[in-house]
Amino acid sequence: MRKGEKGIVAAIIASVVILAVYRMYDGSKHEGEDPGIPFYTTATPELSQKAGDLIRKEKCRDCHSLWAIRDLTIAVPAPALDGMGRFRTEEWLYQYFSAENPQAMQPSRLKDVYKMPSFAHLSEEERRTLAKYLASLQVKDWYFEQAKKRRDEKLTGITLDSSNAE
Ligand code: HEC
Repeated sequence: MRKGEKGIVAAIIASVVILAVYRMYDGSKHEGEDPGIPFYTTATPELSQKAGDLIRKEKCRDCHSLWAIRDLTIAVPAPALDGMGRFRTEEWLYQYFSAENPQAMQPSRLKDVYKMPSFAHLSEEERRTLAKYLASLQVKDWYFEQAKKRRDEKLTGITLDSSNAE
């Protein structure tokens, strides 16, 4: 190999290495952004922990999905809790959990066993924690219309998919 050729080979190797390193770096910058998951929370880890304990204790996931987790053995068509902060305010949620008859605030189309139960028996602090946490559940703009449609379908029982309507 002549001197000039060696230089060219070295330059090619160098640019391949630079490109590979750049791509690794660029890739790591996008890590943790979860481009595929439209739901997120603005809650502090402490609030998430406290509310998470309550959600487990009160078995909200028997009927609702949250972070795509729910008990699949129970087929209650309740709306997902993901993104709830886009649909209800913290104050509304607090009133809802405190209501003896939640159906006076949000009517139900379901049998009594499936309806949203009253959580008025929880302490005020627990109801505030739940309301604050649910209000922190957000959905990214690109998924908002889809999330809204799914929720409307669950609440009304009417499929809003245009392909079914025609
Ligand atoms: C027995 C099933 C069941 C359980 C358990 C349950 N829910 Fe519900 N929830 C529902 C149903 C069904 C609805 C829709 C309104 C209705 O039909 O009463 C609802 C409605 C809601 C709504 C309003 C939804 C909206 O889109 O406006 C919120 C918020 C909510 N539930 C939160 C919770 C939380 C938090 C818990 C646990 C502390 C919980 N639910 C436990 C069945 C349940």
